[in-house]
Amino acid sequence: MGKIAVLGVFVADLAFRADRLPVMGETVLGQSFAMNPGGKGSNQAVAAARMGADVAMITRLGDDDFAQMAFGLWDDAGITPHVTQDPDSYTGAAHIFIDAASGDNAIIIAPGAAAEITPSDLVANRRVIENAQVFMTQLEQPMDAAMRGLQIARDAGVITILNPAPAAELSAEMLALCDYVTPNETETHSLCGVEVNDAVSAQKACEALKRLGVARPIITMGSQGAYLDGFGLVPAVSAGEVVETTGAGDAFNGGFAACLADGIPPEDAVRMACAVAGLSVTRAGAAPSMPMRDEVLALLG
Ligand code: RIB
Repeated sequence: MGKIAVLGVFVADLAFRADRLPVMGETVLGQSFAMNPGGKGSNQAVAAARMGADVAMITRLGDDDFAQMAFGLWDDAGITPHVTQDPDSYTGAAHIFIDAASGDNAIIIAPGAAAEITPSDLVANRRVIENAQVFMTQLEQPMDAAMRGLQIARDAGVITILNPAPAAELSAEMLALCDYVTPNETETHSLCGVEVNDAVSAQKACEALKRLGVARPIITMGSQGAYLDGFGLVPAVSAGEVVETTGAGDAFNGGFAACLADGIPPEDAVRMACAVAGLSVTRAGAAPSMPMRDEVLALLG
């Protein structure tokens, strides 16, 4: 079992399924509501743990009901929490609009206590990071904390993955600390200005990202699959009808990290990660939609 240290955010996802988003000042009737565990870091940790990895989750929570939801989720998934609880803050939440026809989503996230994660939280968890095969983070918590985690991992020779979501401007110094950066098409455009819509434009974007300092970009391309720099487009793996795409990128990242931590070569790891994402979109919710390793192996045959 490979070890993964994840720095990231847990929030409660409040998901509303409706025909369309309201315009400002308007109310629309929704079709359904569900509350589920979410947050990109936590979703990725769950995806990796369900793929069999030994996962440590570094974050901050409030001291409230949503924090209990996080601990329950991680306990079920076998994830070890490395958490500071702040009773003066709150555990975050996300408002998720799900388009009833396509399953696509639009999200507002308030990270709550996790917005106060500092570089010293990473220093306090230095051993957890140094003992992992893979360190993975995203951009829902403060940038300087992500940077410190990446530095600690890099100094210890731990593989580093940055999922640059939500999109943000990143320093060359930060990108140079990443073995893999995994933007989707929108995040790729915001990082390097290249519009990605096929394999040719994806390789062009990879070249631009490498000029910015990334060692090996992987561009996730939704229903097309994922483009691994220097290898090509790995097609998406369909597991049935798409119900909800929330967390599909997290499924990919968690699956990819678990495979790398297990010593699986990146080309095969991307294929397995596509299968993890393919299964996740056939189910509602983010964390609850992450598949077990056996399901992924069965899908790939
Ligand atoms: O990537 C999906 C996640 O983004 C959701 O679970 C939501 O919480 C936001 O963080």
